[in-house]
Amino acid sequence: TSVVQRLWQGRASLDMLSPRLQKAVKDYMNVNKHGVSYRGRRSAGMSKTRLLCEMKRKAKVKTLNGEERPFSSLGWQRIVPALPLERLYGPGFGSCAVVTSAGAILHSGLGKEIDSHDAVLRFNSAPTKGYERDVGNKTTIRVINSQILANPKHQFNISSLYKNMTLVAWDPAPYTVNLHKWYKNPDYNLFTPYMKYRKQFPDQPFYILHPKFIWQLWDVIQANTLENIQPNPPSSGFIGILLMMWLCDEVDVYEYIPSLRQTDLCHYHERYYDAACTLGAYHPLLYEKVLIQRANSGSQSDLRRKGKVTLPGFRTIHC
Ligand code: C5P
Repeated sequence: TSVVQRLWQGRASLDMLSPRLQKAVKDYMNVNKHGVSYRGRRSAGMSKTRLLCEMKRKAKVKTLNGEERPFSSLGWQRIVPALPLERLYGPGFGSCAVVTSAGAILHSGLGKEIDSHDAVLRFNSAPTKGYERDVGNKTTIRVINSQILANPKHQFNISSLYKNMTLVAWDPAPYTVNLHKWYKNPDYNLFTPYMKYRKQFPDQPFYILHPKFIWQLWDVIQANTLENIQPNPPSSGFIGILLMMWLCDEVDVYEYIPSLRQTDLCHYHERYYDAACTLGAYHPLLYEKVLIQRANSGSQSDLRRKGKVTLPGFRTIHC
């Protein structure tokens, strides 16, 4: 059976990846750039309900509020939005869609279905223009990594890709969540462009995720995986899915677990091929996907035909 078939069953492991990807994963483990040391338990096979309850209990969404040092001494209380993200949308959304950037969404014709949700979350520089039939055109929230802010090629300040929506940026701090070290040495400097953008567009909701949330997500993945996962932050995809589980009653995720359209095409909007985009090298993506499939309450035919997983919002589950 292929890796994708094993993903559909909620079982997959590192030894199913190509030797090249296995080597890349091992190299990241040896480097351990973020100083991860995990002391918690490890198990697999927890029931769906218990898994969802653990996600809800252990990974509480949190954004920088400017109240902790060094941000407090730098006046960030006046830089971040007045309303925290968890309260921005009041009672939250009913139905939500999370649209990954996977090449497999091309020729899906899912655009109308995606846009029929109350809120739609997209990632990084993934466009809608020219791809409406397959990905829709509504964007409520965009989750962006720090490279989008730091790399001039994205023209973050000017590009219409980032306007008229809520922005949620993230960057990995050290695993110990030392905010001083993080501020001095982020993966990509997002702090300066963030401040500049906030001053230029103060009315646009724009948040930075607290690195505590990022590493809590990582801990949940590791706690529910027997193998050692990559000591690197989860992908934007996993971050966005769990964010929407906090904001919505129901979350439909498209082409995170690949459909029958599965392809090595990395992004639907770029002619670049690499299996690592779907299966992971830096990010513990394969393990993230196993976890999300284990939590799936949608049908096998939606999974195969649409690459669609359905998850409950946290407020609807009672633990
Ligand atoms: O590549 P990028 O991080 O911008 O893509 C957004 C998210 O979509 C990824 O973090 C990953 O979770 C998901 N993705 C995927 N398979 C791909 C490309 C992206 O699962 N081929």
